[in-house]
Amino acid sequence: MHKPVLIKEVLEYLNPQKGENFVDCTFGFGGHSLAILKKNKPNGKVLGIDFEKSSLEEDRLILVNGNFADLKKIVEKNDFYPINGILLDLGLSSWHFDKSNRGFSFKGEEPLDMRLNSESELTAEEIINEWSEEELIRIFEEYGEERYSKSIAKSICRNRTTKKIGNTSQLREIIRQSIPGGYKHNRINFATKIFQAIRIAVNDELNNLIKTLPQALSLLKPKGRLVVISFHSLEDRIVKNFFKDEFKKGNLEILTKKPIIPSKEEIIFNPRSRSAKLRVIKKI
Ligand SMILES: C[S@@+](CC[C@H](N)C(=O)[O-])C[C@H]1O[C@@H](n2cnc3c(N)ncnc32)[C@H](O)[C@@H]1O
Repeated sequence: MHKPVLIKEVLEYLNPQKGENFVDCTFGFGGHSLAILKKNKPNGKVLGIDFEKSSLEEDRLILVNGNFADLKKIVEKNDFYPINGILLDLGLSSWHFDKSNRGFSFKGEEPLDMRLNSESELTAEEIINEWSEEELIRIFEEYGEERYSKSIAKSICRNRTTKKIGNTSQLREIIRQSIPGGYKHNRINFATKIFQAIRIAVNDELNNLIKTLPQALSLLKPKGRLVVISFHSLEDRIVKNFFKDEFKKGNLEILTKKPIIPSKEEIIFNPRSRSAKLRVIKKI
């Protein structure tokens, strides 16, 4: 089961009241949504969106299988107004890492897939085996902020000339061989940043976020709250800058001067929460 991150803080900021409506753009296993539904009963609703299909059923819950970048269209189609709060809990659920067998985790031997939306065409395998060395360097630098992007990209291109790179353990081994020894003993695993970069590219994650934030702000009713939980600095920067720009235009009030991070207790209980940052705005 996915443990919802920063649940207490999300409820505090969304502050769901009887009859209010919320959009959960990253429904996942419904942890946040179910907690909201307990608060906005008996007639408040939640519109939940996710790339993954869900089997959860609840009278006041509308589930849509889709991309949150289509937020406005989804809200219009479901005539889901007025909206008191919107939540984006970005990234992947623990199910994706542990159970999906789509190659998100660098630990085992899984196919190089990494698609969140199994209907989309681009896979990690295509990126690794077909993209040019320059393109690989670009995504490793831009989306992974990886120090050894050049030597890793070079080594991928050399290896794939003899044999297609077919699974995550082959990729992990190539990464391991292309970086200096000391780096392998860093606190974070040596393959983390490259796997992150490929995943972001496969799912166009940063562009989806960039497209969604303005839609979310315009859909909220005045005084409505937008809560965003991000898991790495690239996402957090996009959120922070969007909030800052819209604040300067007088469109919102920033409720979290600094991002909120999980307590020590939460990190022990749920280690995946350790990199979470939560930012909240209130529409004017
Ligand atoms: C961290 S999980 C959310 C967990 C959820 N809050 C819970 O309590 O169970 C992020 C979810 O967002 C989904 N997701 C990521 N990008 C998406 C996108 N562009 N459109 C729709 N869903 C997306 C993933 O499939 C994943 O289920």
